[in-house]
Amino acid sequence: MAAFDTIIRGGTIATASDTFVADVGIREGRITALGESLSGADDIVDARGKLVLPGGIDSHVHISQPSGPGIVMADDFNSATLSAAFGGNTTVMPYCLQAKGQSLRAALTDYHALAAGNCHIDHAFHLIISDPTDSVLGQELPALVADGYSSFKVFMTYEGLALSDYEILSVLSVARETGATVQIHAENYDAIRFLTDKLEQSGKTAPYYHAISRPIPVEREATHRAISLAELIDVPIVIVHVSNRGAMEEIRRAQQRGLKVTGETCPQYLVLTEDDLKGVEMEGAKYVCSPPPRDRDSQIACWEGLQQGIFTLFSSDHCPFRYDDPAGKLNPKGRSSFRWVPNGIPGIETRLPILFSEGVSKGRISLSQFVALTATEAAKTYNLPNKGAIAIGMDADIALWDPNKTCKIAQSDLHHGADYTPYEGIEITGMPVSTLLRGQFVVRDGVYVGAKGRGKHLARAPRKSA
Ligand code: URP
Ligand code: ZN
Ligand code: ZN
Repeated sequence: MAAFDTIIRGGTIATASDTFVADVGIREGRITALGESLSGADDIVDARGKLVLPGGIDSHVHISQPSGPGIVMADDFNSATLSAAFGGNTTVMPYCLQAKGQSLRAALTDYHALAAGNCHIDHAFHLIISDPTDSVLGQELPALVADGYSSFKVFMTYEGLALSDYEILSVLSVARETGATVQIHAENYDAIRFLTDKLEQSGKTAPYYHAISRPIPVEREATHRAISLAELIDVPIVIVHVSNRGAMEEIRRAQQRGLKVTGETCPQYLVLTEDDLKGVEMEGAKYVCSPPPRDRDSQIACWEGLQQGIFTLFSSDHCPFRYDDPAGKLNPKGRSSFRWVPNGIPGIETRLPILFSEGVSKGRISLSQFVALTATEAAKTYNLPNKGAIAIGMDADIALWDPNKTCKIAQSDLHHGADYTPYEGIEITGMPVSTLLRGQFVVRDGVYVGAKGRGKHLARAPRKSA
């Protein structure tokens, strides 16, 4: 019997701390050897001149999530995970949204049914808590954490989702008791409602006014409040999709005070601005997401956050809607006001190439920082077992990158279900060319060779100490 199923030969391996040339030996889905001149495998992959990186972990994606009457998300688990694999990812963390009045168990049953047999890569759910009743807080959540669902998301805004500070404190208390990790969407709901009403009353209804309805102070204030609530309970939190300097500095100050606050940012805050929402007619709707892209200084601040370790997570916040579709951005109500344009943009396949190209290729971050931001830290933050690193014993979740390959991002090359990409035309240097999930190719030299249904659900233990 051969020593290995696969050897990846002669590539440059990067971890969150090192870069070195070695062979990777893979057996039964795991990395079993790192060394020179490994031999004895059915499949020997020549990786000379390539980078051998941990498969990306996209720890913030929305798939098949109900998004309001008549609105349909553009991706199901099949298309989203296929697109993710082509973008160099091996794990995604989608949301399981609890509808008001619904039990979280019932919500999970629904999402597992959607995912089962349809995933090309692995997945693990975060639980969105929209209805923190006594039984949800007292019984369901502790039982679900014990069953491997150890992260929640709570919202400070959105009709039907926003929790009061009292409710957020209640969820944070459960997280402290159970060792769960809580993500917080930090925007001030009342301020957004007030500004939205004022804008509509003065006839300012075009997509661009979405950005004006939720300016930086709306996010900065909520970030400060979220941190304060977590401080009261003494529990770690993750502030997701941070878009600007004010919110970034709130997180930095909290970290400097010794609070366990993790920051996440996304590609849209590095390469888009609110000017993108000004497109002709309704074109700006393609960029409507929350928080909105900001300005040049906000982009610089987000880069500083990544470079200085204020942000340790870089996710896509993939939340895809078709543009030219009555069930998407151009739904009839959406044409009448930005208020009704579904929030969210696609980005599951472009997240890694954008960060690699703008970050590593342009010298803003090191290759090890790239690996940490896109895989290793997500695995640590969310306790993903055996994921996020090229090391002996880990799952052989690997992306092979050609650091010199160039392209222009184009919708026609992508595999998601949306009919556009907000990143059309961006020049990229450095692309994933192959993706292996637990030792087996999903994409090989740009060609799909995987099997729908190979992706599995990952149960996750809680944090060790509260
Ligand atoms: O606009 C966005 N980001 N939509 C997705 C939902 C969320 O808040 O993450
Ligand atoms: Zn959010
Ligand atoms: Zn999101």
